[in-house]
Amino acid sequence: MEKVLLFFTAASALTAVSSLPARSFYFVYEPKNWTEAQSYCREKYTDLATIESMEDVDILDNMKDLSQMVYPSDSYRAWFGLYDDVSSWRWSMSDSDFYQHDEKEFRNWRPGQPDNYQGNESCSAMYSDGSWTDVGCSYSTRSVCFDVKGPNSTFVLVNTYMNWTEAQSYCREHHTDLASVRNEAENQKVKELIPSTGINWIGLYRDTWKWSDGSSSSFRYWRGLEPNDNMEHCAAIYFQDSGRWEDWNCDKKNAFICQNGFSQKVVKLKLINTSSVDLNDPQVLENLLKQLKQKLKDQGVDGDIRLSWKKQSDGNIFMKNTEDIGSDRDVP
Ligand SMILES: *[C@@H]1O[C@H](CO)[C@@H](O)[C@H](O)[C@H]1NC(C)=O
Ligand SMILES: *[C@@H]1O[C@H](CO)[C@@H](O)[C@H](O)[C@H]1NC(C)=O
Ligand SMILES: *[C@@H]1O[C@H](CO)[C@@H](O)[C@H](O)[C@H]1NC(C)=O
Ligand SMILES: *[C@@H]1O[C@H](CO)[C@@H](O)[C@H](O)[C@H]1NC(C)=O
Ligand SMILES: *[C@@H]1O[C@H](CO)[C@@H](O)[C@H](O)[C@H]1NC(C)=O
Repeated sequence: MEKVLLFFTAASALTAVSSLPARSFYFVYEPKNWTEAQSYCREKYTDLATIESMEDVDILDNMKDLSQMVYPSDSYRAWFGLYDDVSSWRWSMSDSDFYQHDEKEFRNWRPGQPDNYQGNESCSAMYSDGSWTDVGCSYSTRSVCFDVKGPNSTFVLVNTYMNWTEAQSYCREHHTDLASVRNEAENQKVKELIPSTGINWIGLYRDTWKWSDGSSSSFRYWRGLEPNDNMEHCAAIYFQDSGRWEDWNCDKKNAFICQNGFSQKVVKLKLINTSSVDLNDPQVLENLLKQLKQKLKDQGVDGDIRLSWKKQSDGNIFMKNTEDIGSDRDVP
């Protein structure tokens, strides 16, 4: 069967049009570490709780029973679904076809790196000796972009000082992307390109805080100076400060909050029709879902991703105008 190519018209094509928060929360007062709490919630309910709004914060603040939360050495804290995914480094250029075998996993960290110093280093840069380090993404420095032609990369040094996000936009506009370095040979090429001092952005970055249930919610409710520690990768609610959040060491035992139901999203997709296949053919639709799911995984969404199509009033999934508009029901 002909392969239908998916083109997202923008990186944000997968944003929610509406979300259906059909969720309920459950407090569990038996202290467990974060991983144990996650397993427990996944077994008895759906997952650890995702807190997506001030409304959720208020619901939880009203539900809490502090009298059940006092046990030795601890006070009024509960785990929920937010954690810092320190292992999720990936390339800005995500196209899977570009990488062979484990090239996506090639790393050349300097010894002791990445260290997530001060808990906010989620971008990466290359030293003049070719080794890599993690750096705060707001740092301003030179960048290495690349032009991709078939399997080949050509690297380009950009001498303008930019933060990582600006560098990524710049590279995507003027070249293919911030450089992916797939093997020793490419690392050597980049090393030869860069000046003998300072560091240079490359395309490797990681997500910081993520939701256990795969929600893409960007809602955060940290206490003043939190998150504050590079060894603390799990988030807890502190009920003595209006339900604000702190980062904690994940092996600490706390009460925790589970949820039933997923944070469900309905999103609209606009597909650019590049082939002669019928987009409403069930086989094609099935194939598209598979590709979408892979795309979401590539973008770092993990957990149980469930996707289904939503029928329009005419019984079809895709509508044809001058543009083809489809609607996709996405339950991450
Ligand atoms: C990281 O944290 C330090 C100290 O809190 C701050 O000075 C620095 O600007 C932060 N860097 C980033 C990239 O947020
Ligand atoms: C990078 O710079 C832009 C423009 O000054 C700013 O809007 C953005 O927040 C910065 N990004 C980071 C990660 O600091
Ligand atoms: C890639 O590089 C190889 C070796 O340098 C060359 O033979 C090949 O033609 C290049 N491919 C493309 C698509 O540029
Ligand atoms: C949580 O506890 C389990 C069982 O005691 C242990 O195997 C695991 O390493 C702990 N997890 C963390 C993150 O501390
Ligand atoms: C996609 O375009 C082809 C022509 O290139 C056309 O035959 C086909 O019907 C289009 N599919 C849809 C769903 O519009």
